[in-house]
Amino acid sequence: MQPIPVRLGTRSYLVRALRTIADLSKEFDAKPGRDFALIDSNVDKLHGETLRKALPHAHFFRIASGEKSKSFMSLEKTANALVDAGATRASRLVAIGGGVVGDLTGFLAGVFMRGIPFIQIPTTLLAMVDSSVGGKTAVNLKSGKNLVGVFHQPQAVFVIPEFLQTLPVREVRCGLSEAVKTALIQDASMVGFLEKETYNEERLDTNFLAKVAHQSIRIKAKIVSKDEKEQNIRAFLNFGHTLAHALEALTEYKGLLHGEAVAIGMRFAALLSRRMGYLSLSDETRIQNLLQKYTLPQSFQFLQQKRHGFTRINPTMLTKLIRLMHADKKNDNNAIKYVLLDKVGRARLPQGIEEKELLASLKEFLTLA
Ligand code: GLY
Repeated sequence: MQPIPVRLGTRSYLVRALRTIADLSKEFDAKPGRDFALIDSNVDKLHGETLRKALPHAHFFRIASGEKSKSFMSLEKTANALVDAGATRASRLVAIGGGVVGDLTGFLAGVFMRGIPFIQIPTTLLAMVDSSVGGKTAVNLKSGKNLVGVFHQPQAVFVIPEFLQTLPVREVRCGLSEAVKTALIQDASMVGFLEKETYNEERLDTNFLAKVAHQSIRIKAKIVSKDEKEQNIRAFLNFGHTLAHALEALTEYKGLLHGEAVAIGMRFAALLSRRMGYLSLSDETRIQNLLQKYTLPQSFQFLQQKRHGFTRINPTMLTKLIRLMHADKKNDNNAIKYVLLDKVGRARLPQGIEEKELLASLKEFLTLA
C-alpha cells in the first residue's frame, strides 16, 4: 500500500502500511520516557510480546476490551495512571487496538495536559478502515454514543495486516460493514469491486482485506482533507449511523457490535432513501445483496437472536428508538437528520426527516426478515 496522505496543513499526516508488527521498531525513535502505549487487553494477550519487543522504550497500559472502556471512568483512570507513571506535556500516546482504544486514547491525548500528540496503530479491520483515520475521538454517555469528544488528529497511522490474522470473524464483518459504507457514499467503482470479488469468510484472506482497507482509507482521507470538522461532506461517513447509534444505546452497548449496528442502519437508510424517492428499487436491492454477500445483518431480526440477550423490537420500542435518535450529533432544532443515498456511490448531505415518515419507515423495516 502506498502511503496515503491526510492533508490538513501543518497537521497533515500519512497512513502507512507495515508488513509486520516487528517493523514498528524502525518507525519509532526510541526516546526513553516519551511513548505511552494504551493497548487493548485482547491484543496484549495475542501480540503483547512482539509489540513490546518492537517498542522497548514505551510504557504499556492495558485497556479492558469492550465498549465499556469508552467511558469517562476509564478516561480518568488512565489519566491518573499516566501521571503516576511520569507522563508530562512532552509525552506521546500510542493507541494499539480497535475503535474503542483508538477513540479513548485520541480523546485522552487531546485533553491530557491540554493536548499531547498520539499515534494510531489500529488492530481491527474496522479501525483500519474508518476510526483510526480522521481525528474523531470520544467517549460515550448513557444518553448516546460518542457524545463527548474532541477533534484531535494523530501524528501517524500504521496499518499492519498481520493483526487481521487473529481477528474473530464477527470483527472482520464489522470492518467490512464500514468499508461497504465508505463505498456506498462516495465510490461506485469500489462498490463494483466489492460486488465482483469472490469472498469466502471461512478462508481469511488478509490480502483482500488489506485491499479493502486501502481503498476505504483513500476515500476517507480525501473526505477528511476537504472537511475535517464535518461541516459538509464528512457527514456522509455517518451513513447508517443514526439508527446504529440508537440501537447501540438501546442495547446498552452490550452484545451488538458497532459494525453490525451500522449494517442494520445502512439497510434502513437505503429503505428510507427509496421511500423518500431518491434511491431506485434496483439500487436498494444491490445494497441488500452486498450486505448479504459479506454476511452482514440487515434487519431487527438479528437483535432477536439469543446471543444478543435481546427480545423482539415491538412498536413501543420504535418510539424509544426515535427518542434515542434525537441525541444524534447531526441534529439541530429537534429535527432528526439522516444521510440518504441518491444512488449507489452517491450520498446526500444530512436532511431532516419528519417523525411521521421515520415511524412509518421503521414499521416497514420491522417487517423485513
Ligand atoms: N467515522 C466517521 C468519521 O470519521 O467521520
